[in-house]
Amino acid sequence: MNNSYTIRKAEESDVKAATALCLEVNPLSQTGEQNSIEFLERFFLGALGSEDAALMVAEARSQIVGFAYAEIEHSSDDCVQGPYASFDLLGVDHRWRGKGIAKALIDTVESWAHEKGMKVIQLAVAESNLSALKLYESLGYRTVMRKMQKEL
Ligand SMILES: CC(C)(COP(=O)(O)OP(=O)(O)OC[C@H]1O[C@@H](n2cnc3c(N)ncnc32)[C@H](O)[C@@H]1OP(=O)(O)O)[C@@H](O)C(=O)NCCC(=O)NCCS
Repeated sequence: MNNSYTIRKAEESDVKAATALCLEVNPLSQTGEQNSIEFLERFFLGALGSEDAALMVAEARSQIVGFAYAEIEHSSDDCVQGPYASFDLLGVDHRWRGKGIAKALIDTVESWAHEKGMKVIQLAVAESNLSALKLYESLGYRTVMRKMQKEL
């Protein structure tokens, strides 16, 4: 079986597939306007035309099997002074996991951010998402702040 894939910048014709995959892999996909198909499609289409945003996709056997989205954030937050690269979305089709696709997507996003002159890339990840935590830690990401909750 051919397991090869390519990583590239997304084109308009990739947006529907990237949106569907994003909703499939995102555990919050069933809630909120921000996770509706219409919202995400518009959001990704907007990203294609923006100098400050990057939507990367992984393609294998003519299918979109992974995506990554990042944007330049100009303002500062509690952890980093702006501008910095905000790495906001990542997902790989479950049939294609464990083949280095996420790693390759992140590498491409980091190169894009570096070319944009960014010195820091920042992301948020759920404490329960062990595979993503392992992935990011293996690539040199370190925790700088924790968000805590208590059920009332
Ligand atoms: C997290 C996710 C993107 C990983 O994608 P992937 O293409 O399978 O990851 P890769 O093959 O590039 O893995 C690279 C490294 O990440 C770590 N990793 C990835 N999946 C892992 C798993 N299930 N268990 C443990 N470590 C894992 C490993 O260190 C791995 O390196 P190794 O294969 O040399 O051990 C994928 O599981 C996914 O789409 N999950 C659902 C969406 C999600 O959680 N997105 C991130 C939100 S912050």
